Parts: sequence; structure tokens; C-alpha cells
Amino acid sequence: MQRYAVFGSPIGHSQSPRIHAAFAKQCGIAMNYDAIEAGHADFAAKLAASGVRGANVTLPLKEDAFALCMGNASTRAQRAGAANTLIRDGDSWRGDNTDGSGLVRDLTERHGLDLRERRVLLLGAGGAARGVAPALLDAGIHSLYVANRTLARAEALADALGEPGRVHPRSLDDLARLGEFDLLINATSATRGGSLPTLPMALAGRRSAAVDLSYGEAAVPFLAWARAAGCTQALDGLGMLVEQAAESFLLWHGLRPETEAVYAELRARND
Ligand code: ATR
Repeated sequence: MQRYAVFGSPIGHSQSPRIHAAFAKQCGIAMNYDAIEAGHADFAAKLAASGVRGANVTLPLKEDAFALCMGNASTRAQRAGAANTLIRDGDSWRGDNTDGSGLVRDLTERHGLDLRERRVLLLGAGGAARGVAPALLDAGIHSLYVANRTLARAEALADALGEPGRVHPRSLDDLARLGEFDLLINATSATRGGSLPTLPMALAGRRSAAVDLSYGEAAVPFLAWARAAGCTQALDGLGMLVEQAAESFLLWHGLRPETEAVYAELRARND
């Protein structure tokens, strides 16, 4: 039986085993997909000992995974400086990052958003923000404002993206001066701790859409703010989760699974 797994910490509530089991059943592939608890100190050893042919990697290990496959990483993993998908290549690993394309696919195909020429606000400049920023630029947005509590980190992300005409680093303190955005993305981990930074209502209007990259309880504060600020669409990260998984599945098995039924089942379990 082919073995696959997701590594991270905490990993107990990961939806990935359920998603990949559904994809495998749909595509007639026999495989095991486990969730393996691992941190910075023991990730490499646990990955090697697991015998998996492919792995997903989640918090806090995406940079560690990238370091493991540095010489053999896709362009999008290199641009993110992080890998969420590992593919066994002989004795070593090939790495990719499907988070950004998963987000863009969810927004454009499932939710019907047209990202071209849009003015986009990305809140946060950590691993989650880095994972999605390149794909947003590739989707043809007009401009990306990266607003972070620590300005230096927003500046570092903007530098790494290498498009100074389109990417603008800002401090959270400057939000009141930025005007209205077409799309607002919460990629901070602030709300996982329950505290949303103060966001001016003027950032959003009736034509704005908002998405939180997390789901469940963690997405509630930002999405409540977005609705209060008048956003027509306030989306959580469940769709992105399913789409990034489908893209990983494609990399491992050469088949792109149909995602709608899996998304609907997860949505029903989460609402
Ligand atoms: P992740 O992989 O989830 O992105 P991370 O790399 O630790 O985790 O990044 C966390 C992000 O959330 C950062 O942008 C962080 O801001 P700083 O760079 O200033 O630390 C942001 N964040 C975390 N807690 C926050 C809070 N209470 N208010 C505002 N931003 C916060």
C-alpha cells in the first residue's frame, strides 16, 4: 500500500487525511494517508522513518520542508520560501507549494471572483502570507498591499516578491490611509489566538470580498468584521484547503480529483 502523510504541530485536527482518503476513493487509488505530529527538531527524522512516497507539510514546518528540498524545489516554492508538498525523488525530496494556486482556484472557480486588476490587501507577512502572495500576483491583480504589525517583515516579503511597482509594504498603523480594497485577505495568525488587530471599516465596501486563510473558530473574528464593514462575500479558508490538497494529489498521482463533493462534505461538518 502506498503511504502518504501530513506533518505538522498541532496535527490532531487536520482535515487532510479525510480529504485525501476521499480523493483516493474517487480516483480508485489504494493508499494510506496519516497525520504525523512533528516539530522543528524531529521533522526530518520522522519524515525519513515514515516511509511515505509523498507528504503534505503544515504549520510550523513549511520552511523546514523547503530547506529539505532546496535544490529541487518548484519556482512557486522558491518564491514562497516554503513548501507544503513533498514528492519522493529516489533518496531525496522534490518540493512544491500548492497553497497559492489553491487559494486562487477557490476564489476564481468556486466563488466566481475575477482577480484581474483588483486592489488587494494582504494582512500578515509570515509563512501563510508568503505562500499565497506569488499566486495572487500571477493571477493579474493590480496591486498588493502587504500590511503587517512588524513593518520590516512586510518589507522583506515585498523585496522577495520583486515587483516594487505592484507590491507595497505597510505597517498596520497605516491602514487608515489606504482607502478601499476589492479583496482583503487575513493571513495573520492573530485570530488563532482570538485577537483581531483593529481594522478601519473604510478598508472595505459593498464591492469588496474578504477571505480568511483559516477556518472554523479562527476565521470568525475577521469574517464578522468583514460583514460589518459591508463586504458582499466573506469566505473562510476551507475551499483553499481542499484545492491545495487536490493540487498535491495531482503532483503525487497524476490525476486531478473533483473537489466539489469533498468541499460540500467538509462544509457541512464545519458549519
Ligand atoms: P503563519 O505561518 O501562520 O503565517 P507566522 O509565520 O508566525 O505564522 O506569521 C504570523 C503572522 O501573523 C505575522 O504576520 C504576524 O505579525 P508579525 O510579523 O508582526 O509577528 C501576524 N500576527 C500574529 N499575531 C498578531 C497580532 N496579535 N496582531 C497582528 N498581527 C499578528
